[in-house]
Amino acid sequence: MPLPPICTTFEPYFLLSQDRLTDIVSHFRKELEEGLESYGKDVAMVPSFVTGVPDGTEEGTFLALDLGGTNLRVCEVRLFGQHKFEIKQQKYKVSDELKEGQAKVLFDYIADSVDAFLTDIGSDISSNEPMHLGFTFSFPVEQTAIDAGKLLTWTKGFNAKNAIGNDVVKLLQDAFDRKHIHVRCSALVNDTVGTLLSRSYQSGPALIGAIFGTGTNGAYIDKTRTVKKLGEDKIAEAEAGGEHAGQFMVVNTEWGAFDNGRHCLPVSIFDNKLDRESINPRKQAFEKMVSGMYLGEITRNILLHLIDASALFNGYSSKILNTHYGFDTAFVSGVEGAKSPEEVKKLITSQLGVEAKHIQEADIEIVQWATKIVSDRACKLAATAIAAVVLHTGNDKVPEGEEDKGVDVGIDGSVAEFLPRFSERVSEALAEILGEDGSKRIRMGLAKDGSGVGAALTALQAKKALDKRSEANSQFIPGKKGPSHQAR
Ligand code: GLC
Repeated sequence: MPLPPICTTFEPYFLLSQDRLTDIVSHFRKELEEGLESYGKDVAMVPSFVTGVPDGTEEGTFLALDLGGTNLRVCEVRLFGQHKFEIKQQKYKVSDELKEGQAKVLFDYIADSVDAFLTDIGSDISSNEPMHLGFTFSFPVEQTAIDAGKLLTWTKGFNAKNAIGNDVVKLLQDAFDRKHIHVRCSALVNDTVGTLLSRSYQSGPALIGAIFGTGTNGAYIDKTRTVKKLGEDKIAEAEAGGEHAGQFMVVNTEWGAFDNGRHCLPVSIFDNKLDRESINPRKQAFEKMVSGMYLGEITRNILLHLIDASALFNGYSSKILNTHYGFDTAFVSGVEGAKSPEEVKKLITSQLGVEAKHIQEADIEIVQWATKIVSDRACKLAATAIAAVVLHTGNDKVPEGEEDKGVDVGIDGSVAEFLPRFSERVSEALAEILGEDGSKRIRMGLAKDGSGVGAALTALQAKKALDKRSEANSQFIPGKKGPSHQAR
């Protein structure tokens, strides 16, 4: 059945040609590079002070905290080595009042949840030492050490007051200390960094960890020298084996803010409406076209536009359709995964609340078409981000004289997991951008639990650095036996 003519007025914003994709990728690379050169750029390119990826042999038990997805998650992670781990976890709801209230109240709630977790589930970590906790805080943070970083801005519906500009590790540690909870926050981790580490721990070294969930973002490994904004002294210190030893640095791109200046993204009237009505207008432009928090809302805006033009459901709407964020991306995934028009019709009545008598056969096709253009665009844009990082790091080709090991990308998040054929669609778009040979080298795989396992792995890295430092310090305490005394 032909689509109503009104659809053709905005469809082009959702169909991205190969040329358009190539153009977006070149802008992307430019913004990645700008973020590495100086602070304060949209694509923040945050050095994580994580200097390598694990090899699967790591062992130990750690606490992990995950804030930034749908729920607050507290976990106890046991790393057994041999790429194996076990997680005990508990989820806690973060209400809108907490998300938008005072930061102190939010952090007190987080500390209370850790306390409740330790009491409810019990922890096997028994020692006088405080428990080491990795904090997965999935918001843009300007990190200054593995355990310190200032919040740059909130995203994904959070807007707690008196947090921006503050060190989030300190906010959390102060809350633990106020409540006498014997936990030390020793590592601050973005979920993408966690995903990268977790994927590497489980299935061998990866280049990129990417989240396509409530928000979207990616982290990757770069040469420390490339992170020019760190300054020559810090780079030299790192390379010489100083406190943050290593030639490599995991960089959290914060690619959700790509093209906030709107130079190349295909911004339709529906994207503009979504942005204008959001709590962070003119921010996270890329994220607002790709991630789970928004795909349902863009679809809602399209359907309402068609209803207003009497081109859908006989011009009848519903309470859900009239409500801001009335339905989420699960509806889009549901329609895309439906096996028959009847199934789509059921979803329209049950999840959108439209009365069956207003739904014609053509309406079902229109709804299917709307979810498809929204999700196809999201998949293609997801591919531009991956391609930009692959090209930036020179991984589109096999390095000369080396065996082709391919490029591994760990992905996580509700869109990656539940949007039908997500990986295949991203791979198809990668083939358009990088060519068949380039795209074939890229392996994408779900790295579930990145925010838990990754936080534990980072806490382990931080603990090792801490132990090394205190060992080094102890060498200089008169009368105390340190390795240097033993060597003599
Ligand atoms: C948002 C956050 C980012 C996070 C991503 C995925 O883009 O700013 O830090 O990694 O969501 O959760």
